[in-house]
Amino acid sequence: MTDPSNPGMLAVTGASGKTGWRVVQEALGRGYRVRAIVRPSSLVPAGLEGAELIRLELGDQPALERALQGVEVLVIATGARPSIDLSGPLQVDALAMRSQIDACRAAGVGRVVLVSSLCSGRLFHPLNLFGLILLWKRLGERWLQESGLAWTVVRPGGLKETEQNLEAEGIRFSGPDQQESNSIPRRLVARVCLDALQVPAASGRIIEITSGPDVAPIGLAEWLQGQPQAAAHA
Ligand SMILES: NC(=O)c1ccc[n+]([C@@H]2O[C@H](COP(=O)([O-])OP(=O)(O)OC[C@H]3O[C@@H](n4cnc5c(N)ncnc54)[C@H](OP(=O)(O)O)[C@@H]3O)[C@@H](O)[C@H]2O)c1
Repeated sequence: MTDPSNPGMLAVTGASGKTGWRVVQEALGRGYRVRAIVRPSSLVPAGLEGAELIRLELGDQPALERALQGVEVLVIATGARPSIDLSGPLQVDALAMRSQIDACRAAGVGRVVLVSSLCSGRLFHPLNLFGLILLWKRLGERWLQESGLAWTVVRPGGLKETEQNLEAEGIRFSGPDQQESNSIPRRLVARVCLDALQVPAASGRIIEITSGPDVAPIGLAEWLQGQPQAAAHA
């Protein structure tokens, strides 16, 4: 568990993405030193100020290992961008997970949080028209689960850009394969990723999240108190 008084170094891959930059911001706000990892070609959004920016290809294993030296926590917010290249999900949501897991092991990163998706692992789903993305996401999750690293998989519903009225939104938490619709602002996803680092019981879990104004406002720690213990190898 991260020590809130000295949170240490956290890296975010996919930091140029709309969830990734919010994870960077929220982590800086909680006192982490942050490495924002982006591609050589990534457009850098506003919001990464205060983080150390590192450009690399995730397939460049030596560069990734160097970038993760001294890092305690990696938040993976990568995801294939919509494209006519249908191999994107295989490359990003599965194979790039492999390289990130291997680099974490080599660099001694002990804790990983992955932003995945509701319905990960489902075959019959319209999102699979984009390169079977939900199947590749599940493979990436599974590799992380079997990695020996301490992991949490956060599966959000449809992601929203809104930053308005977030305090009025309650988060609907569940275990795996319990939710299949509804949405959540990316800012709240970023917060749950960081909350997971403060709650030991979040390790070794797949946590699905959506939100709405009608949902009771409980936090991750409170929700986890009512859940059975996570499986071993977490
Ligand atoms: N959109 C939704 O409604 C939804 C719902 C549930 C879950 N999700 C998942 O949640 C995650 C975050 O979604 P988002 O919409 O916030 O992300 P996003 O804005 O689409 O950003 C994706 C990030 O992944 C990076 N990336 C893409 N291909 C890459 C590659 N080959 N190598 C390295 N980095 C690569 C992008 O880098 P560049 O900036 O260089 O392109 C960017 O930083 C994704 O895994 C997504 O599939 C999305």
